[in-house]
Amino acid sequence: MADSGVQMAQAEGFGATLRRDAWWVAILPVVVVLGGFGIYATLRAFEGRFYEWGPYLSPFYSPLIDPEHHWWAWSPALLILGGPLGFRATCYYYRKAYYRAFFLDPPACAVGEHKRSKGRSYRGETAFPFILQNLHRYFFYLALVFLAFLWHDAVRAFFFDDGVHVGVGTAVMLANVMLLSLYTFSCHSLRHLAGGKLDCFSCATFGRPRYSAWRWVSVLNERHMQFAWVSLFSVGLTDFYIRMVSSGAFRDVRLF
Ligand code: FES
Repeated sequence: MADSGVQMAQAEGFGATLRRDAWWVAILPVVVVLGGFGIYATLRAFEGRFYEWGPYLSPFYSPLIDPEHHWWAWSPALLILGGPLGFRATCYYYRKAYYRAFFLDPPACAVGEHKRSKGRSYRGETAFPFILQNLHRYFFYLALVFLAFLWHDAVRAFFFDDGVHVGVGTAVMLANVMLLSLYTFSCHSLRHLAGGKLDCFSCATFGRPRYSAWRWVSVLNERHMQFAWVSLFSVGLTDFYIRMVSSGAFRDVRLF
């Protein structure tokens, strides 16, 4: 049935399908959430202020480089934005989500795609610019560096001028870096690296530890889509909270 649906969709052109469900509903949240996050993150990256308060530092600005503007005149976030942005933009899950939601290419499973996508000239991710998506594994290594800075920031968020305390911001930053860690360590590239590319663990060097690592990463990897979304929300909310506290709109509550 699914095969005949695909054939019918291809025969009838863009958007044609035998599917009877509201397949287009799935792409709306992606457009709204991913589009909204993109606009918010861009505005915040260019804003260049209200990114720290006490021991708190916004994840959009971490690591903080040249905040005194000795050699960089613009927002410090612009110096580091490429790392996390490249990691998210080339993520295998997000690729599926935004190819469907923003390019409608294809709009959904068994739904007719653009005519040009079916022609012989279609090169997918084997030609520029989409071949750059293959940089994802390198962005993964870069993401580990960013993650180390964010863990450092989360620990530093306990150390206020008057001693060690926990504020709402501390809890928010800690939750954020934990969710980002789950997103990063559930990455498909890491699973491939750990053992996904092997045909035989017992024949490989360090086969046993790699098998254990592959199994653990696989457990996380099954939930990669969920981690992708919750970590996106947590990054945005963490930055929003710190912006509000820094600008004086919110007062940070000391939990203990
Ligand atoms: S596949 Fe999504 S972060 Fe690597």
